[in-house]
Parts: sequence; structure tokens; C-alpha cells
Amino acid sequence: MSDQITRAGVVGWPIDHSLSPRLHGYWLKKHRIRGSYEAIAVEGSALQKMMEGLVSQGFSGLNVTVPHKVAVMQHLDIISDQARRIGAVNTVVVGKNGRLSGSNTDGSGFIENLRQGCPGFDFTKGAAVVLGAGGAARAVVVALIDEGVPAIRLINRTRQKAEDLADYIGDPVQVFDWDSRSGVLEDAALLANTTSLGMSGKPDLDLSLDALPVNALVSDIVYAPPETSLLKAASVRGNKVVDGLGMLLHQARPGFSAWFGVKPRVTDGLRDHVLAVIEAEK
Ligand code: ATR
Repeated sequence: MSDQITRAGVVGWPIDHSLSPRLHGYWLKKHRIRGSYEAIAVEGSALQKMMEGLVSQGFSGLNVTVPHKVAVMQHLDIISDQARRIGAVNTVVVGKNGRLSGSNTDGSGFIENLRQGCPGFDFTKGAAVVLGAGGAARAVVVALIDEGVPAIRLINRTRQKAEDLADYIGDPVQVFDWDSRSGVLEDAALLANTTSLGMSGKPDLDLSLDALPVNALVSDIVYAPPETSLLKAASVRGNKVVDGLGMLLHQARPGFSAWFGVKPRVTDGLRDHVLAVIEAEK
């Protein structure tokens, strides 16, 4: 048996505040795996060298974060269909033959989090309202379409960015004005905030939920704080809510499983562990 430990990590710039080493570290310890998960600071110009040296440095794979999620695609041999449609990769796996394959687990993490938080939620039963049109929105929209959501109402402060996303994706995405965000909640089955509004240090999302059916599911991708003002307001009026911390934890599962050979779970213990880190960094 080789005594080499299995190596993985996250590349980004800056990388100091990434929570990924803490959450993968939790799973490594829990499953008593001889492996490492490192935070690797890689500037734009150094990405190519990093990717070319991945196999010789003994890496099983990587997570990729800002600003490399798009640029990394040109260094991969295989890209999953969903990642190609999202236009970004956040997980790289080194295959047995040294070939690098990339996928995007942000969208699937969003879906798995909804499944765990609201078992039995039927994605096909009604429209989804998605606020925002950045990279996270793109992943969420593609993943929702793959789950069979019949209509997506896309709303962004900068309408043109929503138009561009809708043009790229096509049916069933429809764009509405930012000012109409409260009205378009009518008869929706799901509301997803993918903007940064509600995050610590940012303004809250200003949104009346009056038109939203009380049986609609409400989700936020903001995870600091885990209970945003949107989720609080939705809970108070009786909507089921799913927070962004769960998405962060779920998006990490496929990478860990591929690199270390164990399917990890998103548990209360993991949530508490990562929450304590978020609290400490406030
Ligand atoms: P990410 O890639 O994580 O989605 P992003 O590309 O910076 O991050 O997107 C941030 C989202 O939050 C965008 O949809 C942005 O709207 P704009 O496209 O109009 O910039 C949205 N956002 C940020 N601050 C906002 C604000 N004060 N009001 C409304 N939307 C805001």
C-alpha cells in the first residue's frame, strides 16, 4: 500500500475566508481518512501551472472558486453537461488515467439542500421565482430546469443581465422588472434569492411576501447569517424555508465522495461546526 495521503483542496484568490477546508476537514476527521484538504491561493496567471501540476503533485482533485470557475474549464479534459450549460466548474476530479474532469455542484447542491430541507417537494408543480442573475443564479436556474420546473420568473436589479441569462438558457425562463418582484410571487411554488442582499454587511432584500402562496418553499443562498431577513419573514407567515448554509454543505459532497471514496452526509454536527466558524469570523 502506498503511504501517500490523498490530497484535495480549493483554489481561489483570495482564499483565506473559504469555509471549504473546515467542512472537508470535518468529514476527513469523522471518517478517519488519511487525506488533506488545503486552501490554495492561486492568482489568475498561476492557474495554468497549478492545473498542469495537479497530477504530479498527487492531487485527487480540487474545488475551484472565485475567480477561476470559468477559466479552469480550458484546462480540463472532460466537462459535465450541466457544468457546460452553467458555464462554470467548481469541482475537478483526477481520473485513473490522469485525465481531469470538471463538474458544477452549485446547482445540484441547491437542489439536494431543498430535498433534505423539504422532503417530497415537487419541482414540477409550479413556477419558481429567482432573484439575481450572477453566477449563482445561472447554476440555480439550470439545475431547476433539470428538475422539471415548468416556469422560471427571473428578476434582477440590472434587467439586461437577466435578459442575457434568459437568452442563453431559453425556455422556460421569463424576465421581469426588479420593481415587479413582489407581484410576480403570485402562485409561485418556489422563491430563491441568489442575490447578495441579506448578507452580513449588505442591505436586506426589500420584498413584500404578501402575494406568495403560504405553501411555497422559500430559499436563500446567503449563508452568513444563516437566517436572513427574507427567511425570517417567510417563516413567520408560515412558509417552509431552506437556508444557504445547507447549499454550501451539499455542494461539497460530490467532490469529497470522488476524491476520498466515502459519501459524506450533511448532519446537524457539520452544520454546527461550520456555523461556529462563521460566528467566529464575524
Ligand atoms: P454571484 O456570482 O455569487 O451570483 P454576482 O455576480 O456578484 O455574484 O451577483 C450578485 C447578484 O446580487 C446580482 O444579481 C446583483 O444584481 P446586479 O446584477 O444588478 O448587480 C445582485 N445585487 C447585489 N447588490 C444588489 C442590490 N443592492 N440590489 C439589488 N440586487 C443586488
